[in-house]
Amino acid sequence: MSSFSISTLGCRANQADSERLSQMLRAAGMQELPAGEAVDCALVNTCTITAEADRKSLKMIRRRLREARVVIVTGCGVTERGGIAGLPEGAFAVSPQEHKRILDILAGENISVGESSEPDDRQHRTRALIRVQDGCDHFCSYCIVPYVRGAVRSFDCDELVHQVQRLERDGYKEIVLTGIHLAKWGLELEPRRDLAYLVGRFLESTSAVRFRLSSVEPISFPRSLIDLMRECPERLCPHLHLPLQHASDRILKRMRRGYTLDEYDELAQMFLSVPGACMTTDILLGFPGETEEDMDILSAYLERTPYYHLHVFPYSRRPGTAANTYKDQVPEQLKKERVERIIALGERSKERVLSAFRGTKRPVLVERLVPGTDLVTGTADNYISVSFPGDASMLGQIICAVIS
Ligand code: 5AD
Ligand code: SF4
Repeated sequence: MSSFSISTLGCRANQADSERLSQMLRAAGMQELPAGEAVDCALVNTCTITAEADRKSLKMIRRRLREARVVIVTGCGVTERGGIAGLPEGAFAVSPQEHKRILDILAGENISVGESSEPDDRQHRTRALIRVQDGCDHFCSYCIVPYVRGAVRSFDCDELVHQVQRLERDGYKEIVLTGIHLAKWGLELEPRRDLAYLVGRFLESTSAVRFRLSSVEPISFPRSLIDLMRECPERLCPHLHLPLQHASDRILKRMRRGYTLDEYDELAQMFLSVPGACMTTDILLGFPGETEEDMDILSAYLERTPYYHLHVFPYSRRPGTAANTYKDQVPEQLKKERVERIIALGERSKERVLSAFRGTKRPVLVERLVPGTDLVTGTADNYISVSFPGDASMLGQIICAVIS
């Protein structure tokens, strides 16, 4: 039996793609091994969101070239429109739109692919990710994604419904909807649909599995999604990752985010009024022209908004994007200091959110045993990590537990 491994960098959309790739290769009779082991084929699913992501992707490819007979590189680093410069020789580049070609490449390299005779025996099915659309046409001035991923394309609703029904039948307890710009799902379809319609279809065509949204951009966010969370909280998790990037209207405008702080905050407050709601976000620091005054505006907003987690990025110049040409770039050292400041603020915010939830009960999807203890750990519907006494029989189950 031939073997493969997958290394995934970047966002949830990439993780969803890696799950599909794993399924495809296992269905072709190959065995999956942990990344890092000697394998016939190593797949590297790359990310190019920042210069740091490029570096990590390249490092991973070079490492896998030493361990695998064939290395296949995919993800945002190798799209038809562009990606990471200077990919090492000896690796096959396959864009995310042509994954089916991978089987032909393997056959051409004399790696046996056929059909699996064995049932998929992955244990404790917990969380599955599905990708519902590709592309972004928003062109925030700092972002490379629209260039590498191209225009928005919504995946077919009926096919997605079949996918989630299959995942529920396979025993998954939670399905995470991912996309490059999730809030754009359906907007270009005829008749026009939106993400709330898709989630509604998922809810009515499954019976118990719960759904979670990964990052949803505030722009084009369908408000009726929040009504769905309020109406069926046990099926649609009251968690939102709502990227803010900055709180200074001047910076938001230069970033071309398409909203003001007030507009963002109105949406955030609407979501936070859902019982149990818990919010996380992305913050981008050191954007060209950012002053101490902008930092004060950001700190003040973060102090008064209950974020459970901040994903803080130092701004990275991406060739080809508008902001790369801006003259007033922030020195690296200052970026670093600002990142550290906001990370510390984020930790205090997390503490505040946790203390507000302490003692309350939430449905927790149990994912792991904590080694050396009699505890299990998992993720509550609202994304809070919870540990509590338990055993292996609880793995993959949703159990009501107290947040401590
Ligand atoms: N530099 C730093 N962070 C970036 N992001 C996107 N582009 C850049 C960049 N050029 C961050 C944003 C986005 C997240 C996925 O990545 O915060 O929300
Ligand atoms: Fe990038 Fe903005 Fe599109 Fe998000 S919405 S992928 S940050 S351009």
